[in-house]
Amino acid sequence: MKKLTIILFAMAAIISACNQDPDSTPVEYDDTPYILEYGTFPPPNSPVATMLTAQKIALGRMLFYEKKLSSNLTQACADCHRQEHAFTDTARFSVGAEGDLGGRQAMAIFNMAWHSNGFFWDGRAPELHDQATQPIQNPVEMNETIPSVVAKLSADQTYRDQFVRAFGDETITEPRLGEAMEQFMFTFISNDSKYDRFLAGSATLTASEERGRALFFAEYNEFFPNESGADCAHCHSTILFENDQYMNNGLDAEADFSDLGRFEETNNAADRAKFKVTSLRNIEMTRPYMHDGRFQTLEEVVDHYNDGIQQSSTLDPALNATTATGLMLDAQEKADLVAFLKTLTDQTYLNNPKFTSPF
Ligand code: HEC
Ligand code: HEC
Repeated sequence: MKKLTIILFAMAAIISACNQDPDSTPVEYDDTPYILEYGTFPPPNSPVATMLTAQKIALGRMLFYEKKLSSNLTQACADCHRQEHAFTDTARFSVGAEGDLGGRQAMAIFNMAWHSNGFFWDGRAPELHDQATQPIQNPVEMNETIPSVVAKLSADQTYRDQFVRAFGDETITEPRLGEAMEQFMFTFISNDSKYDRFLAGSATLTASEERGRALFFAEYNEFFPNESGADCAHCHSTILFENDQYMNNGLDAEADFSDLGRFEETNNAADRAKFKVTSLRNIEMTRPYMHDGRFQTLEEVVDHYNDGIQQSSTLDPALNATTATGLMLDAQEKADLVAFLKTLTDQTYLNNPKFTSPF
């Protein structure tokens, strides 16, 4: 009997020592750094990426999954940004905490530390810590106020303790909320897709994926449209498959512009109907597509670029050049392009236990 008690006691001690739950660590300031592992990627653009701490990230993770950030305790960031969909929403327009509908499709979240030109479709948040507290206060999203969030979190001992570990005292402020969520989101790194393994020499592409890859990266030549590439990498470029710019990819003719995108932020006529060039990593998992979620499938997206580009004053010149004939992709080439896009799916990222709910 005595022996069993000792064994049980020893097991309990081991379990509590292994427990990653912030509750089990002492309630004192702890600035143990968190080193981002980004493999073959270039170093991140954001200086914040070198200043991460494990306790701020743990706090950001709690906040990301915290329904108290919404007015009626029904919605967390993670309800619109779902890990199995690369942290985006499958609804065309997300439903807010109070049932209201937003006007744009939610965006996927990964490799944020490499974005150096703003956040949201129109780039209205210059830095990720500015972005992170906006959904809380957006009436069609979480519809809450910062003072009310501070009151709710301050009433919770778990949060008071975690603010001490992360920041050194219990004070909850908007900048601290933003910083913690920014640090958590900076750890979302996706670079273990089949394509990454192919680049590293540990996976081979099928013949169709390989043809799709060639089309994706080859330039378009308007004098030989039938023989030239689809030039997707013109904009979805670098190892990140995005270019940190705002562009018009020909979704609408001038008269049909309804959302003016980047113009809403800059008031510059040259920015009318320009939107953030999103990354194509994990694109298979993030439908529907475009800022207004108008396309349900990758096949529809490829059809758009193949022969659906609409002309307007702000249409990107590279796409404008394709409008005379279209890309002239046949059915097989379209299927090849889609097959290549699917090699960008990263199961390691989609299932990474570090990004799941801490509750
Ligand atoms: C009701 C659904 C909803 C909720 C809740 C929500 N978001 Fe979003 N998120 C969106 C939509 C829609 C967009 C695009 C909005 C736009 O561009 O105007 C977006 C965009 C973003 C982006 C921009 C990504 C980029 O590449 O620029 C980030 C980051 C983000 N959200 C993080 C968060 C965080 C953190 C929270 C919680 C504090 C949160 N979201 C809560 C729907 C939601
Ligand atoms: C001139 C730059 C440009 C080129 C070339 C380009 N794109 Fe895009 N792409 C964009 C922009 C800008 C968006 C976002 C547009 C929006 O939502 O209003 C986008 C969005 C997308 C999306 C949806 C992303 C999402 O998060 O919903 C997919 C998929 C896509 N492009 C695939 C492709 C493919 C495949 C090609 C080649 C056939 C291609 N793109 C060529 C600029 C470009």
